[in-house]
Amino acid sequence: MKRLWFAIKAVLMLIAVIVIISVYWTAAYFLSEWVYARLNWQPHPLARQLMTSILGFFLFGFSMSVIAPFIRKHEKVFWQNMMDAIQRIAQGDFRVHLPVDRENRNHPFSKLATGINDMVAQLRVMEEMRQEFISNVSHEIGSPLTSIRGFARALKNENLSREQRMRYLDIIETECVRLSKLSENLLRLTMLESNQPPFFPAPYRLDAQLQTILLRCEPQWAEKELDVGADLEKVVITADEDLLSQVWLNLIHNAIKFTPKGGRITIRLEKRGDRAVVTVSDTGPGIDQQDQHRIFERFYKADKSRHRAAGGSGLGLSIAKKIVEIHQGRISVHSRPGEGAVFTVELPLHASETAQSG
Ligand SMILES: Nc1ncnc2c1ncn2[C@@H]1O[C@H](COP(=O)(O)OP(=O)(O)OP(=O)(O)O)[C@@H](O)[C@H]1O
Ligand SMILES: [Mg+2]
Repeated sequence: MKRLWFAIKAVLMLIAVIVIISVYWTAAYFLSEWVYARLNWQPHPLARQLMTSILGFFLFGFSMSVIAPFIRKHEKVFWQNMMDAIQRIAQGDFRVHLPVDRENRNHPFSKLATGINDMVAQLRVMEEMRQEFISNVSHEIGSPLTSIRGFARALKNENLSREQRMRYLDIIETECVRLSKLSENLLRLTMLESNQPPFFPAPYRLDAQLQTILLRCEPQWAEKELDVGADLEKVVITADEDLLSQVWLNLIHNAIKFTPKGGRITIRLEKRGDRAVVTVSDTGPGIDQQDQHRIFERFYKADKSRHRAAGGSGLGLSIAKKIVEIHQGRISVHSRPGEGAVFTVELPLHASETAQSG
């Protein structure tokens, strides 16, 4: 159908060109004949023909130069709009929207306008994300700094007892650790979100890695008198060991942090087909349904009041999710408030170097 329409259009164009040329050359013929009659001049037939042709060309060129600006008016308006839009985008104004001729979607002008509108929409989203990121970082840096300043000022009071002094110093130290953890996490996230995150897969025993990390966390879970269980199938995985250790640390730290004293944490590892499945479950407060899909976003903290005491900046799970995605895996949470949380990580047993593009 498209081809037929194209052929009809080509034939019509050809007929139009022939008609236009005939009209101009006829006009040129009569005009030159009129001039010869007025001058009472009978030139040679060859000279007549040449003169008619030259006059035909001249008439054609002249009338085209008169008509062209009217025909190209639409085009001129389009390019003017386009240049204005590009200038506004270059100045950081992402509210630009170019009109698109809906009936002529396939016309190159419509395609160009649609492309620019899509690009501006993307830039707008990125700009909003950037602003949100800056406000989150400022907030996360601001609160520990206020606390450090307050306690440093309080320490100037010479009447403080030794216990009070030590308590204030402890708080200052905790807030400093929080700040340095925040900067570490921000750097890690930036590196993971770059175009080419570091990714060096190699085969290793996943069960041994989980066991080691659990042992490494023993001081924290022992302090909270948590009952920690592990049920680890022997699994060899090809993945980036360093990156994955960050995932397990973040999940286990969360489980320890959010589970009250005397609670239970269980780590399971099993092979399902060509995938390794790790679950980290706890008997903590659980996570509300509406928060479950948001906790993997940067800086998102589900229970702000509870969180204040627990500490953290809401980056741990977004880092874990990014790493799992680099491995072409999946991370999810199942939880009901009051009934603990279960985090599940599914990873392909053989992550390839090309996986990181995802
Ligand atoms: N095991 C869990 N039980 C209950 N809530 C959890 C659990 N794990 C995560 N959450 C909720 O998800 C939020 C995001 O977790 P995430 O690990 O990203 O940040 P964080 O632990 O608050 O800070 P960070 O990991 O940067 O120190 C937490 O603030 C918490 O509200
Ligand atoms: Mg965390």
